[in-house]
Amino acid sequence: MFYAILKLSLVSVLFASSRAVLQGCDKTIALEITNIFENGDTAFHYDYCEDINDGRGYTSGIAGFCTGTGDAWLVIQEYHKLTGGADKMSQFDNILAEYALSGNNSTTGLSGYCKVWTKLGTSDAKFKQAQDTIRDNLYFLPSMEYAKQLGLGTSIAHGQLYDAGIQHGVGNGPDGLGGMINGTNARVIADEAGDSGSTLVVNGFKVDEVVWLKKFLSVRANVLNNPQELPNKSGAWAKTQYRIASYQYAIDQREYNWTSSAIVLNNDGTPTTVTCSPSSSASTYSRQNIVHLGLLVIALLNLI
Ligand SMILES: *[C@@H]1O[C@H](CO)[C@@H](O)[C@H](O)[C@H]1NC(C)=O
Ligand SMILES: *[C@@H]1O[C@H](CO)[C@@H](O)[C@H](O)[C@H]1NC(C)=O
Ligand SMILES: *[C@@H]1O[C@H](CO)[C@@H](O)[C@H](O)[C@H]1NC(C)=O
Ligand SMILES: *[C@@H]1O[C@H](CO)[C@@H](O)[C@H](O)[C@H]1NC(C)=O
Ligand SMILES: *[C@@H]1O[C@H](CO)[C@@H](O)[C@H](O)[C@H]1NC(C)=O
Repeated sequence: MFYAILKLSLVSVLFASSRAVLQGCDKTIALEITNIFENGDTAFHYDYCEDINDGRGYTSGIAGFCTGTGDAWLVIQEYHKLTGGADKMSQFDNILAEYALSGNNSTTGLSGYCKVWTKLGTSDAKFKQAQDTIRDNLYFLPSMEYAKQLGLGTSIAHGQLYDAGIQHGVGNGPDGLGGMINGTNARVIADEAGDSGSTLVVNGFKVDEVVWLKKFLSVRANVLNNPQELPNKSGAWAKTQYRIASYQYAIDQREYNWTSSAIVLNNDGTPTTVTCSPSSSASTYSRQNIVHLGLLVIALLNLI
C-alpha cells in the first residue's frame, strides 16, 4: 500500500482526532468497494500475509501493511497497546522496528511472522481492531479531512477520495490525493449545475458536487496513465483504470448516497450490488467455492 516511512508519526498526529463524515453503512460500503479493487471481493482480509516480492517485505492484512515500509509495525504497536504488551507478535518487535526505521525489505529474522499474522487475523478481535485503527489513521481519516475541507456531502465523493487516498497516497505531490484535488479545482472555471443535491464553492464558483467528482475522476484517470513521480512510472497503475470505471458507472446510475447499498462494477466490468455486509474472508470464501463444486458434482451424478 502507498506509504512512506517519513509520514510515520505525522499523519496520525494530524488526523487521528478528526471526525469522519462517512461513519456507518456508507463507510463500510466505501471500504468494501476498495476491497473489490484490491482483492477482487468485498471481504476484509485481516488474515492475509505473504511476500509478493515487491521490495516491501511481507504484505499483510486489510490494507496491505508492509514490514519494509513501517505500516505493519504501526499495526503491531497498536495491537500491543490493546493486549497490554506481551503477545504472540512480540517476538518480532526488535526486527520489525529496525526494518521499519530503515525501510529494509528483508524478511530475514521474520520466519513464522506470516503464520502468526494469519492466526491472529483469523480469530483475534484486538488484532483486527488494530488493523482498522491504522487503516483509518493512515488512509481513511486523512482522505475524509480533504472531503471536509471541500465541503463534500455525498457518499460517493467521500468513497472516491478514500479509494484515491489508499492507492495514490494522501500527500500533496502531483500523484497524491492532495495534488489531484488541486488539479481538479483548477478545472473549475465557471458555475456548473448538476443533480447531486449538493453544491461546492471552488475558486468562488458554485459547482455541483458530482460535476466536481467527474472532473476528479478524469484527473485521476490521467494520473493512473501518466504518473509524474518516479516510483509510479512502472506502468502498474494504468492497469487499474477499472477503479475509475466502477465509480463512473455508479455516477451514471445516480448512486450518490449509500444508505443501504451501492451499485458499482466488479474489476471485470460486471455490475455488482455492495451492501453493508461484506462477504466473509478468504478461507470461508474458498470453502464456499468448494461447496459449490460439490453441488456441481452431485448435479452431474444425477444427470448420469
Ligand atoms: C507509487 O509510489 C508509491 C511511493 O513510492 C508506492 O508506494 C506505490 O506503490 C507506487 N505505485 C506503483 C503502481 O508503482
Ligand atoms: C530490497 O531493496 C533493495 C534496495 O534497498 C533492492 O535492491 C532489492 O531489489 C529489494 N528486494 C526485493 C525482493 O525487492
Ligand atoms: C536489511 O536487513 C538484512 C537482514 O537483517 C541485512 O543483512 C541488510 O544489511 C539490511 N539492509 C540494509 C540496507 O540495511
Ligand atoms: C496543492 O495545494 C496545496 C495547498 O495549497 C499545496 O501545498 C500543494 O503544493 C499543492 N500541490 C500541487 C501538486 O500543486
Ligand atoms: C446526498 O446527500 C447529501 C448530503 O446529505 C445531500 O445534500 C444531497 O441532497 C443528497 N443527494 C441526493 C441526490 O439525495
